[in-house]
Amino acid sequence: MKDILNELERRRDIARQGGGEKRVAGQHHKGKLTARERIDLLLDEGSFEEFDMFMAHRCTDFGMEENRPYGDGVITGWGTVNGRQVYVFSQDFTVLGGSVSATHAQKICKIMDMAMQNGAPVIGINDSGGARIQEGVDSLAGYGEVFQRNIEASGVVPQISVIMGPCAGGAVYSPAMTDFIFMVRDSSYMFVTGPDVVKTVTNEVVTAEELGGASTHTKKSSVADGAFENDVEALYEVRRLVDFLPLNNRQAPPVRPFFDDPERVDASLDTLIPDNPNQPYDMKELILKVADEGDFYEIQEEFAKNIITGFIRLEGRSVGVVANQPMVLAGVLDIDSARKAARFVRFCDCFDIPILTFVDVPGFLPGTKQEYDGVIKHGAKLLFAYGEATVPKVTVITRKAYGGAYVVMSSKHLRGDINYAWPTSEIAVMGAKGATEILYRSELGDADKIARRTKDYEDRFANPFVAAERGFIDEVIQPRSTRRRVCRAFAALRNKKRPMPWKKHDNIPL
Ligand code: HXC
Repeated sequence: MKDILNELERRRDIARQGGGEKRVAGQHHKGKLTARERIDLLLDEGSFEEFDMFMAHRCTDFGMEENRPYGDGVITGWGTVNGRQVYVFSQDFTVLGGSVSATHAQKICKIMDMAMQNGAPVIGINDSGGARIQEGVDSLAGYGEVFQRNIEASGVVPQISVIMGPCAGGAVYSPAMTDFIFMVRDSSYMFVTGPDVVKTVTNEVVTAEELGGASTHTKKSSVADGAFENDVEALYEVRRLVDFLPLNNRQAPPVRPFFDDPERVDASLDTLIPDNPNQPYDMKELILKVADEGDFYEIQEEFAKNIITGFIRLEGRSVGVVANQPMVLAGVLDIDSARKAARFVRFCDCFDIPILTFVDVPGFLPGTKQEYDGVIKHGAKLLFAYGEATVPKVTVITRKAYGGAYVVMSSKHLRGDINYAWPTSEIAVMGAKGATEILYRSELGDADKIARRTKDYEDRFANPFVAAERGFIDEVIQPRSTRRRVCRAFAALRNKKRPMPWKKHDNIPL
């Protein structure tokens, strides 16, 4: 028996060595951790249950029968993050470049199927040279099976991708279909075609980092939701994110112990809005002052900064926040901000995370660039996302809520459940100056008259009371009591049920 047990340990040892000392050293030399080290950091200590450690490919072409390493370049299994179950795969670049064979894909598919069946998130750590070249179409078929599972799992269990090395060609489309993508600066990249092909086809000279590095995808393309300095930081932040999310679409998000009084008032919020309505202020200050313990997990921090998206907790419960940021482009809605916020709202709605919206929006960004690039359709995404979301929706207008953007930003008309306004709110079709110039065009030469007209318009509309008279605003609140008000609003909505008409699925403008 002892020999049998020793044999098991011997084989396990071989599997754990991955591609061997030299390749592991090479991985470390690039500033990257190994696939197993990453799993150890991601999961609670000692919680990892590995599957298919001894699986090997069955390819016999190109001398591959001589090279059948245990595990076939991916480590799979499940473990816990702060005690809650997650399924994980971690590609091992030291074994055949982490390339994806039919067997490698089969291992990933197995844990995705288990995650779906058992209702737990899937976290994929990507570090791979792509399709296993020796396997040809078998490899492509493997990717296809993973893609199909990504699609079926979407909206059922949260899916998180962490890119920690190469991810190129069609392989990018698996992470692309997951809920969140995180990248590591300088050691990861994602592109459909690499720098060499780009040079051949378009004559552009570009490095891999410029074409598809973390900075490109968090600032320019918005493919990635966050970028981190190294593997350790990235994995720590993924753990933080998991803590905000439910395990699946049938479970409520977790409730954590909280130490912050929901009744806490913050007098400094009474002076957050500057006297001059055109002067910006930092909306993040409001978010941090409302959140439990000032803890905010921002999503897509570097992209479309005129809108802020991310997670906070109120009374220990996860809440998704969407907020216009007056510090950037005056908080205007445009193509990028509408797309960013729409996807976030839809994620929250999929997974039963209530949505808190802070509004200070002067309207949509004008210009030929916006119109030619389809702001009509992209803006409609956010409108659609808010209107179809049936999770509790609480809205606070802090200052401007003009025109179509007023309706879009979780207004009463899109079934906002509780809509508050600060007394500094201005809810109107447009700002007083613009409105006066249109209404009194014939008087434009007379500056005094126009000033009087503008003042009249301001007196009538630059406040929340017209909307409050009509019930479009449920209550005008003191800024200092915002945390108390929104905590109570979400508490009142905990059992909300809002059926929508039966349909196969909607047809959101894409
Ligand atoms: C088989 C691969 C491989 C692959 C890497 N390796 N990629 N083996 N299939 N796709 C092997 C290498 O032969 C090498 O083996 C080891 O992994 C490490 O690779 P290196 O090249 O030494 O590493 P590095 O210099 O860091 O370069 C990494 C790399 C490069 C840039 C990823 O390996 C590369 O260009 N690989 C090919 C990428 C590619 O074209 N893939 C197909 C993409 S299309 P040894 O034994 O020498 O250590 C695709 C389609 C998916 O993926 C479609 C889905 C529908």
